[in-house]
Amino acid sequence: MITDEKNEGLSRRNLIVNGGKAVALGAAALSLGALNIAKTADAYEYASDYKYAKLDPQEVGQLTYENYPKMWCTSSVIAGLVGHLQKKAGGAWKDFPINAYRWGHGGLAGWGALCGTMPGAGVVIGLVTKDTDTAEAMVNDLAFYYSYTELPSFTPSRVMNAEIKHMTLAGTPICHISVGRWMRAEGVGFLTNARVERCARLSANVAMKAVEMLNAWADGKYKPAHRLLYNVVENGITSQNNCMDCHGHDVPSPNERYDTLKK
Ligand code: HEC
Repeated sequence: MITDEKNEGLSRRNLIVNGGKAVALGAAALSLGALNIAKTADAYEYASDYKYAKLDPQEVGQLTYENYPKMWCTSSVIAGLVGHLQKKAGGAWKDFPINAYRWGHGGLAGWGALCGTMPGAGVVIGLVTKDTDTAEAMVNDLAFYYSYTELPSFTPSRVMNAEIKHMTLAGTPICHISVGRWMRAEGVGFLTNARVERCARLSANVAMKAVEMLNAWADGKYKPAHRLLYNVVENGITSQNNCMDCHGHDVPSPNERYDTLKK
């Protein structure tokens, strides 16, 4: 049984150990089975020289949008955020290597896996929040926003690539499915200016959502909108809630449902 029935901010420490075994969940937990992992997988603070200053979402969105055609999703989101942080917070941001993350584009170097906008925002979120669970909560909220909002809704001050008509619901943070659904609705191919326009606007939306959360956090008002590790807990496997996209009607149920967790 999960200890988080009342939705009270699930953290890794709620998910761990029973009878000398440990279950480690999430990206921060690196190995299974060792008793001491319960301690190492706790939330913890860490140091970073990168400071946050409240930003204007529309300005960040616009800069992200403008950078997309040359940097693509991951780095354009970083460029939008960092470009304005360089002016407003200064310090370590001045030398930030925005292009060091360009490989995240196209769902990891074109592999269509995780949409690169979210890891782009996550890099900045992680650097400024300096707490593992806060960063994870924000990135989790970002994935919910991305998956369950009709996008792109950003309107650029001047259209750079092509006029587009459609907004679509991805239902998942996976690049391939997300862009494929939009392409089908719009009736265009991937290597088109219309698709570039869509991903540029989508990148702007994700950067703006990150700003919205970070601004609230800077005011001490950020509250996670969704439970951490929601999908793992609900589905018994790292997942999104779109099982039938791939499994059709034969969605397998995981064999083991948390028998190592606290009862
Ligand atoms: C993006 C495609 C995709 C989505 C979405 C997806 N799966 Fe899977 N899943 C797979 C593939 C591929 C495998 C490997 C096994 C196979 O080929 O059938 C797999 C394996 C599994 C397994 C382990 C194999 C087994 O039979 O025990 C489980 C459990 C599972 N999926 C459950 C789910 C659940 C529950 C969801 C929704 C919350 C889900 N999957 C969503 C593609 C997907």
